Amino acid sequence: MPEPEPASGPLILATTIPTARLSEWTFLQPSRACRSLVPVCLALTRTTKLTTFSIPPNVEFQVDDVEDEWTYSKPFDYIHSRAMNGAVIDWATFFKRAYANLTPGGWFESQEFGLMTCDDGTIDGTSLATGLEIIDKGSKVLGRPFIKVWEMRHWMEEAGFVNVSESHYHWASNTWPRDKKLKELGIWNNMNISQGLEGFMMGVGTRALGWQPEEIKVLAAKSLTELNDRRIHAYWPINVLYGQKPE
Ligand SMILES: C[S@@+](CC[C@H](N)C(=O)[O-])C[C@H]1O[C@@H](n2cnc3c(N)ncnc32)[C@H](O)[C@@H]1O
Repeated sequence: MPEPEPASGPLILATTIPTARLSEWTFLQPSRACRSLVPVCLALTRTTKLTTFSIPPNVEFQVDDVEDEWTYSKPFDYIHSRAMNGAVIDWATFFKRAYANLTPGGWFESQEFGLMTCDDGTIDGTSLATGLEIIDKGSKVLGRPFIKVWEMRHWMEEAGFVNVSESHYHWASNTWPRDKKLKELGIWNNMNISQGLEGFMMGVGTRALGWQPEEIKVLAAKSLTELNDRRIHAYWPINVLYGQKPE
């Protein structure tokens, strides 16, 4: 599958970031060649203008709800899921459905980001920390909790997948890391998250926890300033998990 052509917006940034980090591949599963492409982009942002991409002739888009029964006419060689944290009610069923809809020997790959975290306490007491707590608590109230992505593997194994592989990555909140590659990722990640931070907090904060829009706006503005503060050593945990359905 060719790389998408350059275009604007967070979706493309979200595509660029993994590509920059994952050794120039947008997916890691070992076969890297799919006889039948997944014809379904289950979670393509609904507002994305498909006309901004050139679409390969063997790709077809269908819009579905991943939490409904999967009723595809034939199984797939490869199923790829990305950035669905906070959208899924029942992850165990999600993994089981992916397994059921693969050909024997087929692969399922799940690339997920967890909520921003920090190992050295430099985020403590900040508006950013409050905002993240809102997203965490609010997503639970709404029934689609942000799961801890470095603890997902068991769903893949319980569904029956073999040859399971798991890779953890850190996407820094800005350019605070010393490592050149991590710094570069921090630039991309910062740009991507800056565009969405107020929206993430607004949606769950007002709908689930009774915050007023004006309060969220103030919190988000302070959080954005902190997102650029290199003394705050925050990062988004990323997990790239793949497994194979036995032959
Ligand atoms: C963070 S975006 C990720 C988009 C894309 N997968 C990517 O990695 O660039 C999450 C997407 O999940 C979609 N989504 C949320 N719940 C869904 C559901 N139950 N079924 C299908 N898509 C869903 C949203 O519309 C949104 O486009």
